[in-house]
Amino acid sequence: RKVIFSGIQPTGVPHLGNYLGALREWKRLQDEADPATTDLFFCIVDLHALTIPRPGKELKAARDEMLAALLALGIDPGKSTLYFQSDVKEHAELMWILACTSSVGYLSRMTQWKSKLQLADTASLTDPEARASLKLGLFSYPVLQAADILLHRATHVPVGDDQRQHLEFARECVTNFNHAYCTPADPAKGGGGGGGGGGGGPSRAMREAAMVPPEMILPSRGAAKRIMSLTAPDKKMSKSDPAPRSRILLTDDAATIRRKIRGAVTDGLGPASYDPVGRPGVANLVHMVAALDPRGRDPATLMKEEGLEGCQLADLKEFVSDKVSEELTPIRERFESYMSMPWDIKIEIEKSTEVAQKSAARNMRLYKEAMGLC
Ligand code: TYM
Repeated sequence: RKVIFSGIQPTGVPHLGNYLGALREWKRLQDEADPATTDLFFCIVDLHALTIPRPGKELKAARDEMLAALLALGIDPGKSTLYFQSDVKEHAELMWILACTSSVGYLSRMTQWKSKLQLADTASLTDPEARASLKLGLFSYPVLQAADILLHRATHVPVGDDQRQHLEFARECVTNFNHAYCTPADPAKGGGGGGGGGGGGPSRAMREAAMVPPEMILPSRGAAKRIMSLTAPDKKMSKSDPAPRSRILLTDDAATIRRKIRGAVTDGLGPASYDPVGRPGVANLVHMVAALDPRGRDPATLMKEEGLEGCQLADLKEFVSDKVSEELTPIRERFESYMSMPWDIKIEIEKSTEVAQKSAARNMRLYKEAMGLC
């Protein structure tokens, strides 16, 4: 079977980068999936969000908002298994298991960790004391992400380009786990291998538990894989950027979208042209419309055919604002109606959560058998 898994942190309303890079793909995959051959799991990864602690009230509100946003953009709990990570305890359990075969060296080389180190304090890369105060949860973040993916034995993971290293690490976890627990011991070496293998081939438990390396699925529109900040086109659009003007939220109204796009940093190089290296701010705006184009034209063709090549940057910005608003308006309206529902919207995913719990329990049993834990 094909098993599609992906996750998003409830750290605020999703932005256009989340939408184009991942969430719209989740919906596309959901709508195209044949239920006879494909399972889909979409998870609001609230345990990951704890790596940046904040008051419980805020996290609770952010969880509700994220659920409303996913429902609003069309993730359907009748078709996809949609749930909160903290409702399925096996995520944390499998993380511990994977942590026991993960190397500290590999994790410390990961760029997200290194950039967080720098953010925390520029001196901390070299200052042992500052380094020591950084949290274990942040360091082991990729292990929990690998556990998410491997818990449901996902074969495909739709994400934006920024998740590449995390996916590579999940594949590394597969190799480590299979080596430790699903490979028969080599009698000549008298060690290695796991649960009940002995000599000869792998046992039934080992064969059933053996993990399969997951594949990354980038958005079908290349232009969507990395949407950049509106205020600093060399940085990705991010929920944690302190400048709200740097991102367009799925819940922004048309006037707000226009204001943010009008204020987007471009350059003084004259009329519009598509040059991702020389004119990243302009290219970022073009990427947004290319990603939304119903005809799927590449950025350069779209610019020519829409008469944007050589137009004033102000006109390009108006064009982009219109297209983005057209896409987001119905999502915003549905979001608002979910947020004002007289009942707790978590009811919408009760059944879905049970499906996730069953899948997790079933796979965990396989893993534990191979490890000799049951
Ligand atoms: P998160 O919450 O930062 O982002 C969710 C998804 O949005 C994509 N994305 C972008 N795509 C294009 N341009 C951007 N500017 C942009 N910003 C974000 C991300 O690639 C992601 O697909 N570590 C993950 C959450 C996670 C996860 C998982 C993902 C936890 N466990 C298991 C997949 C599988 C994260 O922080 O995503």
